[in-house]
Amino acid sequence: MDATAQQTMPASKTPVSSAALRDLKKSNKLKDEFIAITVHNQKTPLIIIQGYVDLVQKETKNLSDMQKHALEEIEKQSKRLIEINSRLLSVTKLHGDVIALKKETVDLAELTRDVAASFVVKLQNKRIRLVIDTPEQLTAKIDCEWIREVWENLLSNALKFTPEGGKITISVKPKGQTIMCQITDTGIGIDKQEIQNIFAPFYRTQDALTGGYDGIGLGLYIVKLIIKGHNGKIRIVPSHKGARIQFLLPKN
Ligand SMILES: Nc1ncnc2c1ncn2[C@@H]1O[C@H](COP(=O)(O)OP(=O)(O)OP(=O)(O)O)[C@@H](O)[C@H]1O
Ligand SMILES: [Mg+2]
Repeated sequence: MDATAQQTMPASKTPVSSAALRDLKKSNKLKDEFIAITVHNQKTPLIIIQGYVDLVQKETKNLSDMQKHALEEIEKQSKRLIEINSRLLSVTKLHGDVIALKKETVDLAELTRDVAASFVVKLQNKRIRLVIDTPEQLTAKIDCEWIREVWENLLSNALKFTPEGGKITISVKPKGQTIMCQITDTGIGIDKQEIQNIFAPFYRTQDALTGGYDGIGLGLYIVKLIIKGHNGKIRIVPSHKGARIQFLLPKN
C-alpha cells in the first residue's frame, strides 16, 4: 500500500514530476505515521478490555449462558482488533517495496518446525493433521523475524481455510542455490481465475467472502513483500483440491 509505488507503476506510463513524487512520498510517510500512532493508541485500551473480561470470567460465578457468550464475544472481537492492528503495522513497516532486512545465517528447517509447533493446539482443536518434511538442518541467510511472519501467515491461512479433519503439509528442501518451501492443504482451495489477484492488498476470493471466513486480505500481500525483499519468489500452484503455495529463497 505504498502510494508512491502505486502511482509510479509502469502500467500507467504517465510521467510523474519530481515535485508530485515528493508530495506523494510525504503523504505516504504521513499515512504510515498516522497508522502507527492509531495502532499504538489502541493497544492499551484493548489490553485493559481483555484484562477486565478475564477478571469477570474468573471472579463472577453463576453467569447466565447469555452473559458467558457476551464475554466470550468481547474477548474474541478485541483479539481480532489486535490482530488487524498488527497487520496494519506490518504493512507500514514494509514501506512499499523496500524492506529493511536484518539478514543472518539461520537454520530455516528449525525455524519452520518452531513456527509449526506454535500451531499445534489450534490444529488439534480443528482435528487437522500436520505433516512436516524438512531436513535436520538447512541454513539460509534470511531475516528470521520476517520469515517467521511468512510461515505464520501461510499456516494461519491453511488452518483457517481447511475444514475439520483435514491435512496440512509443509516442506523445506534445498534446490540448487535456493531453498524451496511449500505448504499444501486440503481446504477450500483457490480458484484458477483468482490466482493472479491473490497477492494484491485487501483481495479475498469469492469462496472466502461467501464462506464467512475472517480476515482483511493483507496477509499474502505482506508475505509477497517479504519474499521479494529477500530476492525470492512466491507462487500459487494451481491444484484441483485445496491450496498449494511455494516460495523460493536464496541460500545466501
Ligand atoms: N490456504 C488457502 N486456501 C484457500 N484460500 C486462501 C488460502 N490462503 C489464502 N487464500 C485466499 O487468499 C485471500 C488472501 O489471503 P490473505 O492471507 O491475504 O487474507 P486473509 O487471510 O483473508 O486476511 P488476513 O491474512 O489479512 O487476516 C484469502 O482471503 C483467501 O481468499
Ligand atoms: Mg491470511
